[in-house]
Amino acid sequence: MNACIRAVVRMAWQRGVATTGIRRGYAGLLDGEMEPLLSRGVANIIQRGGTVLETSRSEEFRTPEGRRCAAERLRAAGIEALVAIGGDGTLRGLAALQEETGMVCIGVPGTIDNDVFGTDYTIGFDTAVNTALEAIDRIRDTAASHERLFFVEVMGRSSGFIAAEVGIAGGAEDVLVPELPTSLEALCRVLQESRDRGKKSSIVIVAEGDEAGGALGIASQVKARLGMESRICILGHIQRGGAPTARDRVLASMLGAGAVEGLLHGHAGTMVGQVRGELSYTPLRETWKRAKPLDARLLDLARVLAG
Ligand code: F6P
Repeated sequence: MNACIRAVVRMAWQRGVATTGIRRGYAGLLDGEMEPLLSRGVANIIQRGGTVLETSRSEEFRTPEGRRCAAERLRAAGIEALVAIGGDGTLRGLAALQEETGMVCIGVPGTIDNDVFGTDYTIGFDTAVNTALEAIDRIRDTAASHERLFFVEVMGRSSGFIAAEVGIAGGAEDVLVPELPTSLEALCRVLQESRDRGKKSSIVIVAEGDEAGGALGIASQVKARLGMESRICILGHIQRGGAPTARDRVLASMLGAGAVEGLLHGHAGTMVGQVRGELSYTPLRETWKRAKPLDARLLDLARVLAG
């Protein structure tokens, strides 16, 4: 997100537009936590994880009254347009703000979950995938040396994009995601068959939102059915921090610059994204109304390649 903030500030500066940073997201906006962001002020942040502007969840902004106050704050500060970076909740709030108050707005997709329609990738996804993958590679050393079965839980409350990507890249035996029903019977068959083929260690990736119960629940059900011992690792919030990958920095820079260009060229009310390498502007409402499908072939491929 810092690479995106930097890009917004510097592209705006190039175009003769002044920028103001709002701290702590919509909550900070309602509290008037704003300060001018100068081009030099965003130096040395491109390599940092998280967001230098900080973020929060705001109950007040969820109400029309809260959004009316937010628009008043913006106008009082002389702000003519708002760029918001975030996932589903941020984009919904932004659409409501624009529709109800006429504030000029544009969204940028930022979530490790990658579950936003209108962009192939969201800011943060690639970094989260690579962080999870590094951990899985380390876990594999123990799995192989001690001949163990591991269930590794990755983030994804309602989406399996991280799970699918690390499943392929990490050579997982199986990948369980919220988008598709999980069959314990099928999983046990996969594990039993791999044991029968002489495989001594396996890693199964579980997205946290999988309806079969997360890594803990699934591991105990496998134990009950097959008597197989396993180890569990829940990667949790380490996936959300750390220096962003090059791919994330490039994406964030392009989308931040694209947000400024979009505002200047009549794309208010949209989210800037990148689809097949090209910048695109999708109406805000479509970004959550239309589902971004998970490529189920990735899950099949993981199983085939597990060997
Ligand atoms: O919404 C993105 C996400 O990364 C989910 O995958 C995860 O469940 C959640 O955030 C964690 O959020 P929090 O830090 O608020 O618990």
